[in-house]
Amino acid sequence: MTSPNAGGQWVVRCADCGGTFSTQTEHSVCPACGGLLDVQRTTPWPSAAELVALFDSRSRIAARKDTSGQSGVWRYRELLFDVSGPIVSYPEGNTPLVRHSRTSSFSGVEDLVLKHEGMNPTGSFKDRGMTAGVTQARALGARGVACASTGNTSASLAAYAAIAGLPAYVFVPADGIALGKLTQTLAYGARTILVRGDFDRCLALVRDVARDEGVYLLNSVNPFRIEGQKAIAIELMHQLGWRAPDWISLPAGNLGNTSAIGKALREMLAAGLIERLPRILAVQAEHAAPFAESYAAHFSTRRVVRAETVATAIRIGNPASFDRAVRVIRETDGAVVSVSDSEILAAKAVIDAAGIGCEPASAASVAGIRHAVAHGLVRPTDTVVAILTGHVLKDPGVLTWYHRELEPRPLLANRPIVADDDAASLTRLMSGEWPHA
Ligand code: F0G
Repeated sequence: MTSPNAGGQWVVRCADCGGTFSTQTEHSVCPACGGLLDVQRTTPWPSAAELVALFDSRSRIAARKDTSGQSGVWRYRELLFDVSGPIVSYPEGNTPLVRHSRTSSFSGVEDLVLKHEGMNPTGSFKDRGMTAGVTQARALGARGVACASTGNTSASLAAYAAIAGLPAYVFVPADGIALGKLTQTLAYGARTILVRGDFDRCLALVRDVARDEGVYLLNSVNPFRIEGQKAIAIELMHQLGWRAPDWISLPAGNLGNTSAIGKALREMLAAGLIERLPRILAVQAEHAAPFAESYAAHFSTRRVVRAETVATAIRIGNPASFDRAVRVIRETDGAVVSVSDSEILAAKAVIDAAGIGCEPASAASVAGIRHAVAHGLVRPTDTVVAILTGHVLKDPGVLTWYHRELEPRPLLANRPIVADDDAASLTRLMSGEWPHA
């Protein structure tokens, strides 16, 4: 089937000063005012019927011979942007929808659907944005790519840069990056710099350094990263038969993902693929909650905080995509809530023990739903999808601490038992109560 994309045109526009550039611009933020750039389609969307037929045909197993068919991002390319070179793909996406009675009853929603983005190739949703960003970097002839990260973006950038054969420079906080993420980043060969500062400092620094050194910045300030990340919501709607749920809940840090999902929903509505917008529930950690605090003040001020949380992925005090995300919350009649670290860890323990598993930040999405149900914001009968953003093995440090070391022992801690190496002791242990005191 041919793509109805022929004739589709896109530009990149600055959200602050309105400056307009071609999609071949080498700038990842506005060169005139430093504002964030957005990709915009300037020609009408193809008809919804045409798009659905195309997406369905690419999803069929027989059609999965080429990248457009295999990738859960490029399958939806008509809704993304005009790619001018070869695609850099793992492939990514195709993440499952999972349900479990224990996660539903914990959340307070009767039938909670979890979209597990931790099932992407490097274990987080970042791969969707990175396939788009690195494809664009190569099309532009970039001499290298760079990002600041709390760990997942760096692991993803490292992998996709390696696939593309480009050098990657990553700037991560020396203190607080989860072990799985740091080791991945090193293994994939990124030039890794542990900065004595937090994520917000890393991002400010890399924005300067990337510009001076002529490497392409691939944080979610980059508009093409956002385009790729939109595919979380597009693939989700495809899986749900283009019927929008009442709510989509997700963890919120730098707010790139909130922005991307909101942009995808807005565009799917404009293209006639969905009939209404789901409400977005953005969830922050209590001591890393500048967006939730601004929301509580009706977005009258932009808050900046010094962030602290066990969910290191979202330990962010000055989110870069703040304005984009405000628009999304307003447009979708959404809400922003914050949850404590112990609420996040309790949600994570339930998700993990259901055999699903996720990293701490991801569990914030479920903790946030439980909080919203308790406060009457979300109804138990609402249709709700929670995005699990990262894999359970991303943060083994938190798991070891929670299950083996934390005192007093949490209810769901699963302590291993050391035994003598004889069958009688093992039999005694196996026939006794579990967990052992
Ligand atoms: N969940 C996980 C697992 C993340 O890694 C991140 C962000 C988020 C949620 C929040 O998404 O920043 O778009 O609001 N991680 C970034 C990183 C900051 O560097 O990996 P956001």
